[in-house]
Amino acid sequence: MTHIISDIDIIKETDKEACELARISEDNAAPTQRKLYIESYGCQMNFSDSEIVTSIMIDLGYGTTSNYHEADVIFLNTCSIRDNAEVKVRKRLAAFGPVKKKNKNLQIGVLGCMAERLKSQLLDEEKLVDMVVGPDAYKSLPALLAQVDDGHKAVNVFLSREETYADITPVRLNSNGLCAYISIMRGCNNMCSFCIVPYTRGRERSRDANSIVKEAHDLYQEGYREVTLLGQNVDSYHWESEGKTETVNFAQLLEKVALVNPLLRVRFSTSHPKDITDEVLYTMKKHHNICKYIHLPAQSGDNRILDLMARSYTREWYLGKIEAINRIMEGECTISTDLIVGFCGETEEEHQNTLDLYRQVRYNYAYMFAYSERPGTPAAKNLVDDIAADVKQRRLAELIALERSITLEKNHEAIGKTFEVLVEGPSKRNEEEWGGRNSQYQWVVFPKKECKKGDYIQVKITHCTTGTLNGVIVDEQS
Ligand code: SAH
Ligand code: SF4
Ligand code: F3S
Repeated sequence: MTHIISDIDIIKETDKEACELARISEDNAAPTQRKLYIESYGCQMNFSDSEIVTSIMIDLGYGTTSNYHEADVIFLNTCSIRDNAEVKVRKRLAAFGPVKKKNKNLQIGVLGCMAERLKSQLLDEEKLVDMVVGPDAYKSLPALLAQVDDGHKAVNVFLSREETYADITPVRLNSNGLCAYISIMRGCNNMCSFCIVPYTRGRERSRDANSIVKEAHDLYQEGYREVTLLGQNVDSYHWESEGKTETVNFAQLLEKVALVNPLLRVRFSTSHPKDITDEVLYTMKKHHNICKYIHLPAQSGDNRILDLMARSYTREWYLGKIEAINRIMEGECTISTDLIVGFCGETEEEHQNTLDLYRQVRYNYAYMFAYSERPGTPAAKNLVDDIAADVKQRRLAELIALERSITLEKNHEAIGKTFEVLVEGPSKRNEEEWGGRNSQYQWVVFPKKECKKGDYIQVKITHCTTGTLNGVIVDEQS
């Protein structure tokens, strides 16, 4: 959820999927152990899956390494959401070529959404790949690795209707020891016409509510103070116990996790505007530790485009949800969004409607993308990707400029206010200054004084930039 502006691309695009990349940060392999190196691309679900994969590999006797030159197995957990996400993975694979030449026993696996989309075709296209493993097939990793040990290539891209990995305790990667992801559901049953996810992640299924609450509880005991419940569409979470004696919807799940401990913050992502209910909003209002921040992707501000995207809501419906968030949480809740520019046939006027929606909602920030046609999706089959690349980039630049100016205005509105902040540690720029997030997910920096990681403190905001609120620690809410 960090807000990243890619400076890799010449044309700027805020691209949380393609440029956020997690590597193992700890080397915990004993000298005798085989070593795993894993890199993750894409959304938080993929990052969370890498933690499951690492857990499976550790059970198999592997240790982890942050240096791929000394690895016995390299896994790339990949993303297919836009073409540039796949291009990055292919470039990365090319970089592993020389390592594989030196070490003939090195096994390279492509995991995740690109594996699922391309299946065994990937083995033909990328000769150094030994293994292709889809997101629901990680439990077969031991068998697949054995197959590769025997000198064969291995593929499992079976999509399951049941797998939730509820029985696997993830190994936390790149963790600050305070904030963790909990995957609560997998797959997506929506068919937004532009989106590859239903094809790479399969049908929607919800994880056992008790296992989610237990994971949150265990994390709290280990010192974690913030959990983010993850799913492509968390609001359609629906779990039934065996015999259907208990059913749990998303609002009820949120409440259960909030009740684990008042000192454990709860976040969630992502909400679909058609499914988020007032019950969820009232549950957020009721519990102080459910963070007042909602990521509510709009995709477009124009009704004709929304219809072509098969988002199943109108601009007016969407604005109704924004109104409900602001009303029920009395303006305390920050809101961010995802927007796509240059979708099939989008006119200048329709693009203006997206800018206009942005001005009307005044989001705290947004992730913005140029439309990238994905093979096999309804849009690729039925619509023409006819907006020229330079037009898409110009529209994207306009949207990004608007976002930046409104983000700054919104941050200015925080000056003079006092927020509860969960202390994460020293800020990157200055050891004397520490940072943490408020409930609204804004990054707050302050002179350290007497506080330590994991404390909740009150910070009064004195000034700001686009990315940071700066303040001072105060004793009481003022
Ligand atoms: N499940 C989430 C989002 C998943 S993908 C939801 O429904 O909101 C994250 C974001 O990537 C999407 O919200 C969308 O804005 C963007 N995206 C998805 N497919 C895309 C495509 N083909 N081209 C450009 N952006 C895309
Ligand atoms: Fe893709 Fe739509 Fe599902 Fe989100 S809700 S993952 S955009 S199909
Ligand atoms: Fe990418 Fe797959 Fe996530 S396509 S955005 S890694 S679900």
